[in-house]
Amino acid sequence: MEQITQVFSPHYAPLYDGFYQDKDYAAEIAILLALYGRFAEGALPNSLIDLAVGTGKHAEHLLAAGIRVYANDISAEMISVAKERLGRFQSNPPIFSCGPMETLRLAGNAKADCAAAFFTALGYLVSPESLAGFFANLRENLRPGGYFFCDVWNGRQMIKNYAPQRVKQAQVAGYLVERVSLTSEQADRNALRVEFIFTVKDPEGKKIVTTFSETHLVRYFSPAELSTLAWAYGFEVLACTPFGEESTLADCWNFSLFARSRAKKISFIHSTAGSSETSRTP
Ligand SMILES: C[S@@+](CC[C@H](N)C(=O)[O-])C[C@H]1O[C@@H](n2cnc3c(N)ncnc32)[C@H](O)[C@@H]1O
Repeated sequence: MEQITQVFSPHYAPLYDGFYQDKDYAAEIAILLALYGRFAEGALPNSLIDLAVGTGKHAEHLLAAGIRVYANDISAEMISVAKERLGRFQSNPPIFSCGPMETLRLAGNAKADCAAAFFTALGYLVSPESLAGFFANLRENLRPGGYFFCDVWNGRQMIKNYAPQRVKQAQVAGYLVERVSLTSEQADRNALRVEFIFTVKDPEGKKIVTTFSETHLVRYFSPAELSTLAWAYGFEVLACTPFGEESTLADCWNFSLFARSRAKKISFIHSTAGSSETSRTP
């Protein structure tokens, strides 16, 4: 499987939260749990896989609600930040695993009630093999009828209106960090290539302490495309809506999808002459 370039490195991981201080992780968990409650008769999930857990800011709300959390990420450095954040949950500790979500297998072959990939984590699966492998594998980690949630970039908006250059600053541990994002389209992957260039300066912002860069290739989806993909891999799509913004599905920047693992995979059978099998394809 194609792997992305080394991202969320030892340099970026400790700075990550500084750039997303305004992100309302509690509100995002409330959206997920409301969806789960709506379709699972008011219940909370007993167990949830936080796919691409990052620094653990969603996981901490899940753990606080008493949910068993399987925390997976490909970046050892992001996991190390998450471990520090979540260490206080000693009676309900998260179960960490470091590796690609495409091939994740839960400890003890456990099956979870739900899996969630927040903040466009699915977009990091840019090759057809990794995305298809992910969906095929996901079902194996969920109980029958288990649920899947993700939020992703909406290609309908991203392709037309992405910002080619952005600058953002953050104060982290007394340092002033500037992040310049240079974005271009990689059409053959339905993806945007974002080069992040970091400059870390002393607290007065006068002296440069270090610089580094990372290039992220992140895929966008259209709502119909992701719904089709989920359906083809054995999920019934229950909701597909703008995520965290007042907009329409056609025009939003991010949308979320909530789906349930179907009892059986649909098999596609092509009709052959003299056969009674029917074709399910157009
Ligand atoms: C934008 S961050 C989101 C982190 C976290 N979910 C959040 O909402 O803050 C994307 C995360 O995906 C992880 N990631 C990228 N590719 C992955 C893969 N193939 N398997 C597991 N994690 C992956 C990165 O290491 C990073 O932590």
